[in-house]
Amino acid sequence: MALASTTAGAKPAESSKVLRLTQVDPRTQPGVRSAAVIGTGAFVGSGRLTNSDLEQMVDTSDAWIRERTGILSRPIATSEQATSDLAYGAAVRALSSAGMSAADLDLIIVATVTPDMPFPSVGTIVQERLGARRAVAFDLAAACAGFLFGLTTAWNLIGAGMYQNALVIGAETLSRITDYRDRTTCVLFGDGAGAVVLSAAPRGVGVVSSVLATDGSGVPFLQQPAGGSRRPASIETVTQRQHYIKMLGQEVFRNAVRGMVSTCTAALDKAGITSADLNLVIPHQANIRIIRAVADRLGISDDQLLVNIEETGNLSAASIPVALDQAVRAGQLHDGDLILMTAFGAGWSYGAVVLRWGAA
Ligand code: UT7
Repeated sequence: MALASTTAGAKPAESSKVLRLTQVDPRTQPGVRSAAVIGTGAFVGSGRLTNSDLEQMVDTSDAWIRERTGILSRPIATSEQATSDLAYGAAVRALSSAGMSAADLDLIIVATVTPDMPFPSVGTIVQERLGARRAVAFDLAAACAGFLFGLTTAWNLIGAGMYQNALVIGAETLSRITDYRDRTTCVLFGDGAGAVVLSAAPRGVGVVSSVLATDGSGVPFLQQPAGGSRRPASIETVTQRQHYIKMLGQEVFRNAVRGMVSTCTAALDKAGITSADLNLVIPHQANIRIIRAVADRLGISDDQLLVNIEETGNLSAASIPVALDQAVRAGQLHDGDLILMTAFGAGWSYGAVVLRWGAA
């Protein structure tokens, strides 16, 4: 099986935007290296919100939430836990599982849309707490797809020879921007963080292919309208509940299926494999019906699919690394296994990454 094939002659079925993104991969050139996941960790909010809790808060029912989303309960950060606390917890566990010390890190990327504060970044806070003195740290915002954007960025920086070891974290406290009077959103989200240690590796292992995409026509359909430079915080914005997530769910649903299928198809093609070659598929856990629709269209069986949405809800950027850590700790992954990860979120920002498990 040729993992590092180019896209010459490849014709991804979906949009021309994806076609443009699937040009020849620079890492397939001689002398350029890859990056492999050598450790994972997760740390979710210490509280838990069940469907029956939500029944007391808004006009909803356990049956509706289960049927329409697949969610039974979700972790929620305590009032003492900020995003950096969850990120730090996941980072410590990832470093421990990699057998690496913070001093070995060159790079920390935190994907989040719910930072502790607008600035400085969560990355800087985590760097200080870890004592990762050599590491450059920054945040990246690509909503639910943030972890895949961070992973791809770190992979490329390592591949270019700039860094050796990176920590990529997806961390969110979406409960802080969720309106618990809005039943169309408050049943969905949870709080957590997942992290991976990514280290330089030979070509053919670690990240094999990545396809990221942005379609800014999605901006109106999923956003936190106030608190930025467009609508700074004021008494009016607070009164109007404009600091909370506003979402047109059906619009997200439709585009999510299309976007994940198109980027997965392109990422598989770029890796020179088909869905039948995959050992594990980790989709962003936003809605069980979205996950099933994507799996059906790609020909992915239940055996290949990781679903943990029952107990996590939608953890946004933390969703995929938390699930990956779960698979690792359950002993589900073996050297050489092929993993497909895919996510879709606000923006629209979306993508898919193929990963070959193992460090060498
Ligand atoms: O991570 C990326 C960001 N987010 C997503 O990916 C979310 C994508 N969207 C979705 O998951 C789904 O669209 C939702 C779960 C948000 C909504 O499910 P839906 O099947 O699309 O429901 P709907 O919006 O079509 O609403 C159907 C009905 C409506 O009532 P009427 O107008 O038919 O009387 C809603 O008002 O369900 C009602 N409804 C609820 N009923 C009970 C909406 N939310 C609730 C609720 N409990 N929590």
